[in-house]
Amino acid sequence: MADYILAIDQGTTSSRAIIFDKAGSIVSTGQLEHQQIFPRAGWVEHDPAEIWRNTGEVIGQALGKANLTRHDIAAVGITNQRETAVVWDRTTGEPVYNAIVWQDTRTQAIVDRLATDGGVERFKQQVGLPLATYFSGTKIVWILENVPGAREKAEAGDLLFGTTDTWVLWNLTGGVEGGVHATDVTNASRTMFMDLETLQWDDEILAAFGVPRSMLPEIRSSSEVYGVANEHSLLRETPIAGILGDQQAATFGQAAFDAGEAKNTYGTGNFLIFNTGEEIVHSKNGLLTTVGYKLGEQPVHYALEGSIAVTGSLIQWLRDNLGLISSAAEVEELAKSVEDNGGAYFVPAFSGLFAPYWRPDARGALVGLTRYVNKGHIARAALEAIAFQTRDVVEAVNADAGIDLTELRVDGGATANDTLLQFQADILGVPVVRPVVAETTALGAAYAAGLAVGFWSNLDDLRANWQEDRRWTPSMEAGERERLDRNWKKAVSKTLDWVD
Ligand code: G3P
Repeated sequence: MADYILAIDQGTTSSRAIIFDKAGSIVSTGQLEHQQIFPRAGWVEHDPAEIWRNTGEVIGQALGKANLTRHDIAAVGITNQRETAVVWDRTTGEPVYNAIVWQDTRTQAIVDRLATDGGVERFKQQVGLPLATYFSGTKIVWILENVPGAREKAEAGDLLFGTTDTWVLWNLTGGVEGGVHATDVTNASRTMFMDLETLQWDDEILAAFGVPRSMLPEIRSSSEVYGVANEHSLLRETPIAGILGDQQAATFGQAAFDAGEAKNTYGTGNFLIFNTGEEIVHSKNGLLTTVGYKLGEQPVHYALEGSIAVTGSLIQWLRDNLGLISSAAEVEELAKSVEDNGGAYFVPAFSGLFAPYWRPDARGALVGLTRYVNKGHIARAALEAIAFQTRDVVEAVNADAGIDLTELRVDGGATANDTLLQFQADILGVPVVRPVVAETTALGAAYAAGLAVGFWSNLDDLRANWQEDRRWTPSMEAGERERLDRNWKKAVSKTLDWVD
């Protein structure tokens, strides 16, 4: 068997290809950012053609850098930004509209309309999610209602929907020349349309949304051979054998396979996933119920999720919209120029507030300002906002689980930031632990693909690959921790009811 697995990570800001060896170590990486399109306030789009082009290029970069060819790759795994909706014409392969990104809030009116009968929790029992602009369902409805001719074409069976895993898989396996139209259970669980018990599309929910079933991909497990890369690809004939939504992939890459294990990823947003094993747990504290993973014919694992919309993207906003820093990495230096936040709290409710609040009416606020506050304090408040929001979801996880997390496994780009992770440990009051391979998202997709083709034999092989790199231990006094958190929650209360 070939010696490597290639993972494609189609993320919110970039597409990457990462090649892993059997120890789960990174051999090479290709990466390209794509354009973020903001046509109006609250709208966020990507160009699906650019994403597909970039995917091809980063595969070439990763293979080229390591001097490898398709013959060295045993299988390909795909992981992706979740919920982002692409609708395309099955005969031309052309998208009928840009991809509507998970952060996009344009569908609030569609959410409100669907919620008039039964409220936002109308479908929660079946799908684990409240009605919200975040999930794919209302994004598809928006396209059907607003793109001329789309509804007629969809009714005639001419349009296909996919999250970006499906878009990449379809194109990689041949597109109009017989591409495979499939997704995995984790991505399907983010649409609003998949019944968590049956793992199939729910016809009644589809009827309530007015979405034809013929648009939807086949739901498959997270680890099996879906098809092979077609002849136009550098990877031709290589099996594509793993698909996991990026947060579930990171959980898998952290080897959090069993009930009670959790991870927190620091990306564009932050996503804490808590494995609940084979049990579907409905949150009483604002968390989502979602699918964790399903390996081939084996039983499905479920999870609770605390999704935070804006964390890393707040740092990008300081860079791009305010010019306060010239690179994201600079935020740490600026934050370290001051002792504390100087009384300033930054609540980045740019897409409303996600977990555990679920308040679409919230908008961002910077509060507690005095003449004393300088840009160092603002940088610090931005970093602290990432940690405070994480504490909010950890409190919800602890309340739902009835037992407190004793440490937090972390990964993602911002875990390079020591100041952030020390404050995270301080404000949580539990240690924060980072593994050697912090690229757990791509690693998780590689694991799913490698298991399907026998590159790795079982989960114990993967557990053995997990190694601790660094641990941050809380050093803040409990009274101070609670005082800061009380201020944070007061700041959050100032952002609510902003949008009528
Ligand atoms: O639910 C959205 C999430 O999957 C996006 O993740 O890492 O692309 O920001 P990321």
